[in-house]
Amino acid sequence: MKHTGRVITALIVGVAVLVAFTMAYAATKAPDKDIVIESKDVFTAKKKTPVTFSHEKHKEAKCDACHHEYKDGKNVWQEGQEVKKCSACHKLKAEGKVVKLEKAYHDNCMGCHKEMKKEKKKTGPVACGKCHPGAKDEKE
Ligand code: HEC
Ligand code: HEC
Ligand code: HEC
Ligand code: HEC
Repeated sequence: MKHTGRVITALIVGVAVLVAFTMAYAATKAPDKDIVIESKDVFTAKKKTPVTFSHEKHKEAKCDACHHEYKDGKNVWQEGQEVKKCSACHKLKAEGKVVKLEKAYHDNCMGCHKEMKKEKKKTGPVACGKCHPGAKDEKE
């Protein structure tokens, strides 16, 4: 009967390893390839061209510099969790503290680029045409 105990232990360990492996594998990772940001669900009449975004070029930034999910005013989103589209929460018009989608992107993207430029660090663009190719630079 000693053997049965060992077999059961081995089975339990085996299952635990499998579960841990599956969970690690299922954790959401940043895409390696460039993504195209185009929220057709919210911007039904788009004025500007879609924006190409590279996670690779932003790997120095923490994920939660851009990804969040608030509970009682605190960001509870953690790396590895599922990522919702910005347009799942930010819409055409502001709703309370949830800024409108265009502002959400511009404050996030240009906000950081401007801040880093001020600190004289290498950073991304603030000119319209650098993110929306073909757009005239109405203002910097
Ligand atoms: C750092 C990148 C970046 C820069 C610089 C930038 N934008 Fe955007 N903009 C975005 C992103 C990302 C979106 C979201 C696009 C989407 O989801 O379809 C967006 C959305 C928009 C939208 C709403 C969607 C649409 O096509 O109608 C407008 C209008 C717009 N930008 C205008 C501008 C103008 C004007 C400038 C220059 C003052 C500018 N943007 C500079 C990244 C940028
Ligand atoms: C500088 C901003 C920024 C940083 C930093 C960032 N992301 Fe993203 N990520 C985005 C944007 C913008 C999108 C597109 C959102 C949308 O389409 O609404 C996105 C999309 C994603 C997606 C969905 C991809 C798809 O194809 O639908 C995943 C997964 C993701 N990010 C994971 C991560 C992880 C993990 C990290 C940290 C290692 C990270 N991101 C860091 C801005 C960022
Ligand atoms: C699950 C819903 C949800 C998603 C998804 C989401 N947001 Fe937000 N966002 C919020 C809420 C709620 C607030 C208001 C937070 C507060 O001040 O209490 C907010 C605030 C913001 C703000 C202003 C405050 C700040 O943090 O500077 C910006 C900018 C912003 N979001 C950009 C984005 C971008 C860009 C994405 C996609 C990469 C995104 N959000 C995805 C819910 C969301
Ligand atoms: C936390 C700061 C930060 C945020 C937020 C951020 N960026 Fe950047 N971005 C950078 C830095 C730093 C670089 C320079 C990276 C390099 O060239 O090594 C950069 C470079 C870029 C570039 C030029 C490099 C390339 O991919 O061709 C583009 C375009 C760009 N960012 C778009 C965006 C967009 C769109 C968003 C919002 C969805 C965004 N960035 C949000 C810091 C940021």
